[in-house]
Amino acid sequence: RRLSYVLGIETSCDDTGIAIVDTTGRVRANVLESQQEFHTRYGGIIPPRAQDLHRARIESAYQRCLAEAQLKPEQLTAIAVTTRPGLPLSLLVGVRFARHLARRLQKPLLPVHHMEAHALQARMEHPQQIGFPFLCLLASGGHCQLVVVNGPGRLTLLGQTLDDAPGEAFDKIGRRLRLHILPEYRLWNGGRAIEHAAQLASDPLAYEFPLPLAQQRNCNFSFAGIKNNSFRAIRARERAERTPPDGVISNYGDFCAGLLRAVSRHLMHRTQRAIEYCLQPQMRLFGDTPPTLVMSGGVANNDAIYANIAHLAAQYGCRSFRPSKRYCSDNGVMIAWHGVEQLLQDKEASLRFDYDRIDIQ
Ligand code: KG4
Ligand code: ZN
Repeated sequence: RRLSYVLGIETSCDDTGIAIVDTTGRVRANVLESQQEFHTRYGGIIPPRAQDLHRARIESAYQRCLAEAQLKPEQLTAIAVTTRPGLPLSLLVGVRFARHLARRLQKPLLPVHHMEAHALQARMEHPQQIGFPFLCLLASGGHCQLVVVNGPGRLTLLGQTLDDAPGEAFDKIGRRLRLHILPEYRLWNGGRAIEHAAQLASDPLAYEFPLPLAQQRNCNFSFAGIKNNSFRAIRARERAERTPPDGVISNYGDFCAGLLRAVSRHLMHRTQRAIEYCLQPQMRLFGDTPPTLVMSGGVANNDAIYANIAHLAAQYGCRSFRPSKRYCSDNGVMIAWHGVEQLLQDKEASLRFDYDRIDIQ
């Protein structure tokens, strides 16, 4: 059987990702340009600046991707591109580039929902083990959701965050802690820095945060309380030990361990609700078999959090999976793989040539 190749384009936030994946799930090329270095200087993403950087890099990223895969543009089967959700200015760069390319090559253009791509990514590496439907915990810098995944375009939302996303909380708290002034964390995102710092704790139980939404028996999340409690605890500590304005509190490792435990407990608490919900006999979602659990999105990079989630799932007889770390965070591979899933699902119907209809939504 002839192999098909899907080109995936991701520009929803601050990473320019372009990749080629074939229909068997083999990654033929993966180009990822991070903007972290620029945005760290300003303490966050400035959307017009992010747009400029995507614009400046997208053509060369595409050329490098083709070279890496040793393919000619005509050999591509389809172009997949993130159309939502994301920063509109950033999304536009990818969508315009993809439209132009698809029209020039006369190839189908496949729109991709970014969070769906996170959810389906683990299937690329575990196609046999993760069949539809499965339960998915999506935790990233912009989202936190529990969903039942029935196929591309067929997700049922069980619950989501009422305020901040966990990655966003990590990034803001990391910034407030000033972890970025430590040379080893300079170019790391907040979540990764906090994960590393937590391992340096000498008294991991020194900080304790209340469990959010403890009384609610649903699948929603809230991270604003943990964030505000964190800001308060950091300020109290800075005052007590007279931390200079460009310094980091001395026991930041202990603090990060407490924070990580709080986020982890909340994610587990809600995932437990979702598993129990799926196992209710009247739901008939999964028959008698425990659902397979997938954790995905940038926060799934966190080994401690994932180990806790996997442990919880195992208590209910659920197998759990996450994508390889390089595919947990935003990248072009997950967009290309979503395109492959679309092609595999309905081979003809999803071949879209009405390029102007594909837009950011
Ligand atoms: O999925 P992603 O790359 O982008 C979004 O779609 O948001 O997720 C980025 C988020 C960031 O907020 C970052 O703090 C978090 O993922 N993150 C982590 C880790 N690595 C990245 N959070 C916890 N532990 C990590 N190791
Ligand atoms: Zn993402």
